[in-house]
Amino acid sequence: MGEMRGSHALRPPLAHVRVEIPAARRKRQTILMTPQPSAMPSAPGEARKRPLVAMAEVTKVFSSGTVALSGMSLTVESGEFISLLGPSGCGKSTALRIIAGLGDVSSGRIDWPSSRINSKGQPDGDISFVFQEPTLMPWKNVFDNVHLPLKLRGISKTAARDQIMQVLSTVGLQDFSEAYPRELSGGMKMRVSIARALVTKPKLLLMDEPFAALDEITRQKLNDDVLRLWKETGITVIFVTHSVFESAYLSNRIVVMKARPGRVHADLPLVTSLERDAHYRTSEEYRQACETVSHSLIGAINAAKEDR
Ligand SMILES: Nc1ncnc2c1ncn2[C@@H]1O[C@H](COP(=O)(O)OP(=O)(O)OP(=O)(O)O)[C@@H](O)[C@H]1O
Ligand SMILES: [Mg+2]
Repeated sequence: MGEMRGSHALRPPLAHVRVEIPAARRKRQTILMTPQPSAMPSAPGEARKRPLVAMAEVTKVFSSGTVALSGMSLTVESGEFISLLGPSGCGKSTALRIIAGLGDVSSGRIDWPSSRINSKGQPDGDISFVFQEPTLMPWKNVFDNVHLPLKLRGISKTAARDQIMQVLSTVGLQDFSEAYPRELSGGMKMRVSIARALVTKPKLLLMDEPFAALDEITRQKLNDDVLRLWKETGITVIFVTHSVFESAYLSNRIVVMKARPGRVHADLPLVTSLERDAHYRTSEEYRQACETVSHSLIGAINAAKEDR
């Protein structure tokens, strides 16, 4: 099975989702699930000349013999918010780790067309990773936890103070810089983890199911925080999730993966001029987007069964 992209992936009735709405608002409230390159948000001040990162026919075979990815290609433009969605074991984390340089490829390439790369083929300092667990150091306070990536670059606490306080303020934790992880809620710990990822001002933020362990209300709040940060900073985000709802709320592009072996099943641009907020969550457009993504996910699961 080859990869499917855009309209090829979306056969009727899913090829083009249009929502019936009053004429006066019709133009504003259309969600297109077909490729709309011109509608792709760009990072502020950043020309979208070359992609940020491109996976080219990446295959990953672990030493156990498991083929986690096979011929996976994915091109990510600067400023995109991409969700990687797919069934458990389809290779989402493997793909993210390979992009982060935390694992090598068995064949294929990762290209960074718009970055300066180091001797390991990685763009120096341009990538941050947020894991499902906040992975904070319990013996260090919030300030020191966020300082860590800067400390590794030889930047002292004194020199980094303004930068750290600014990023803590961005995630709403400016009053908790002295607190220890044990004094924070799960959502606050995750905010610290996000602050630590952002403090180096990366171009690309990789998030592997960051909110999966949190309650629904906290998860929704953090979804809004991440969207705000994405808009404010122009950062590119690749966000791994199991949740159709989360992917349809956050992303401007959803890449649905299929398992055994892992590869792209469908690539669904999601364009809306609506603000992603509480109103959007209850809108017909959001419902339609969720339905489209859900159909695609079911298609990916069925296709993997047929391949066996
Ligand atoms: N270090 C490893 N050694 C051997 N096999 C691995 C390793 N890491 C992952 N795998 C296998 O590779 C496949 C893809 O795993 P991966 O963790 O990327 O999936 P995933 O889509 O992130 O799943 P989940 O949604 O459950 O997190 C699985 O079959 C998994 O068992
Ligand atoms: Mg995973």
